[in-house]
Amino acid sequence: MTIGMLGGTGPAGRALAARLASLGSDVLFESRQASHAEEVVSDIGQKWPGRSLSLQGVANEDACSADIVVLATPWDGAAPLAASLSAHLEGKVLVSMVNALGKVGNEMQALMPPRGSIAVAVQQAAPGALVSGAFHHVPARGLANLDEELDCDVLVCSDHPAATAKTVELVSSIPGCRGIDAGSLSAAAAIEAFTAVLIGINIKHRAHASIRLTGLPSAS
Ligand SMILES: NC(=O)c1ccc[n+]([C@@H]2O[C@H](COP(=O)([O-])OP(=O)(O)OC[C@H]3O[C@@H](n4cnc5c(N)ncnc54)[C@H](OP(=O)(O)O)[C@@H]3O)[C@@H](O)[C@H]2O)c1
Repeated sequence: MTIGMLGGTGPAGRALAARLASLGSDVLFESRQASHAEEVVSDIGQKWPGRSLSLQGVANEDACSADIVVLATPWDGAAPLAASLSAHLEGKVLVSMVNALGKVGNEMQALMPPRGSIAVAVQQAAPGALVSGAFHHVPARGLANLDEELDCDVLVCSDHPAATAKTVELVSSIPGCRGIDAGSLSAAAAIEAFTAVLIGINIKHRAHASIRLTGLPSAS
């Protein structure tokens, strides 16, 4: 499977890219500067010399040719980037892992973006894309450490059943991760905002916790 990473050169995108590449996906990195994508590809390769990771820096519209496209920019860049690539994202599953957060004093606080969540804003910016939200609560640090198995649930929301199914499948292809259908894109506001709570918990407890839900039937 090919995965396109939009804004994938940051810690979150490069961590998810390395993890998915380690499981056999071909990852196409987009950057606003081609040289930055090349640098990130080279950095990841040097970090994991024993592994055969298929990673490539490409122009942003080429990242949209992937089977699944992931959006991993800061919150204020997400909808404008999706709008600029809207024509290339027609019919594509576009997974937003973007959270709207702002630092206030020592705290990360949830911002209320226009339209309530970044995922909804992205869906409206690229109406032909099948937008889903996922991976908001998975700390990049754990995701990036390919020697460590993950242990978390990932809430997936979308207005498109096909996007939910493909995203849950992608999440659950990662050992230790369980993708959970968390409903329509209306859930994105609460999912994104909860990231601020989780970051606060992680700062307070000097941890890298993610989430696990209890009480679900085993195949959800
Ligand atoms: N860090 C985590 O543990 C984590 C976990 C889950 C979810 N997330 C979410 O994932 C997203 C990315 O997090 P991050 O820490 O990796 O972010 P980041 O480093 O701040 O940004 C990621 C990349 O986005 C590109 N970018 C920056 N501003 C942009 C703009 N205005 N328009 C388009 N592209 C822009 C940059 O790439 P180029 O300069 O190469 O274009 C940058 O390397 C955030 O929304 C975050 O909340 C983070």
